[in-house]
Amino acid sequence: MRSVGVLGVSGYSGQELMRLLAGHGGARPVVVEKETAIGEAVRRDALELLFLATPHEVSLEAAPAALKAGAKVVDLSGAFRLKDPAVFAHWYGMPHTAPELLPEAVYGLTELNGEAVRGARLVANPGCYPTSVICGLHPLACAGAIDTSAGVICDSKSGVSGAGHRPSPGTHFVEVHENFKAYAVLRHKHVPEMVQALGLSLGDFFFTAHLLPITRGILSTMYAKLRRPWTREELLALYRRLYPDGGFIRVRENGTPNVRELQGTNYCDIYLTLDESGTRAVIVSCIDNLVKGAAGQALQNMNLMLGFTPNQGLV
Ligand SMILES: NC(=O)c1ccc[n+]([C@@H]2O[C@H](COP(=O)([O-])OP(=O)(O)OC[C@H]3O[C@@H](n4cnc5c(N)ncnc54)[C@H](OP(=O)(O)O)[C@@H]3O)[C@@H](O)[C@H]2O)c1
Repeated sequence: MRSVGVLGVSGYSGQELMRLLAGHGGARPVVVEKETAIGEAVRRDALELLFLATPHEVSLEAAPAALKAGAKVVDLSGAFRLKDPAVFAHWYGMPHTAPELLPEAVYGLTELNGEAVRGARLVANPGCYPTSVICGLHPLACAGAIDTSAGVICDSKSGVSGAGHRPSPGTHFVEVHENFKAYAVLRHKHVPEMVQALGLSLGDFFFTAHLLPITRGILSTMYAKLRRPWTREELLALYRRLYPDGGFIRVRENGTPNVRELQGTNYCDIYLTLDESGTRAVIVSCIDNLVKGAAGQALQNMNLMLGFTPNQGLV
């Protein structure tokens, strides 16, 4: 058994991580208490890897300490996702205090960056909204198929667990129950992460987050104009080539996915279609924000970083 630590076990992602690690079979989860010095915890428990299921301010301090003590790090926060510290400062409203680590931090969406994750010391686990949007748009973006001048529109809805376990006036039961609203319009901090991963520019990208009155799940609908007409078969073939059968990103031939059927799973299900001209694409992508959008993806990263089989503990 390999020892891996988890900081932030009382939070929603931390709890999900502990649940998954309990069934992993190859990793022994060690709870790292909030009050413990990180370096001391890594050395005392011989941690090979530390998960940070913590706010970005906390991860900014904890990641350098864990790396210094010799552990690998999978950080679930946004602290190490953006390559440019000035962009981080703008969107997160604070200076980056460990910019020297940004060049080596690998964006841990394993279906896109698996090889880099294998050799990484520090992995920045993607955000929940970005996971659904990037998985949905990546094949079109990397094929250069999108007419970006027409704007790429992403409309995403999330369950309330995406906001963490501390209640706030906006996530209080009475505010959320039987209600539905958009929030952080044009200023959601996940925007630069999606633009960076998809190679788009901010001016071509529209993202709106919405709060669903459910506990968990994200459904994103993306709209893109294509540079030339495509057939649905061509589009399906492109997605299937990048997301082969047997992986956690599943391309659906028929029927749009829904949040309930993916709850508790590490799958990202994608449905795509075109209008009659073949130049307007609509992509629907669905995940459980706490699994593929957080803890499940973190476990996928650990599996590669520590040399386990890629799907261990997740199917
Ligand atoms: N929820 C999601 O769907 C989701 C998805 C992807 C990524 N993320 C990211 O993952 C991270 C955790 O998210 P979450 O939703 O699980 O948050 P959460 O439910 O609010 O949990 C945060 C955890 O961090 C702990 N913590 C807070 N301040 C700390 C400190 N100074 N030192 C040590 N631990 C501290 C909390 O302890 P207390 O018990 O004291 O509060 C709690 O255990 C965040 O960065 C979030 O942005 C979340």
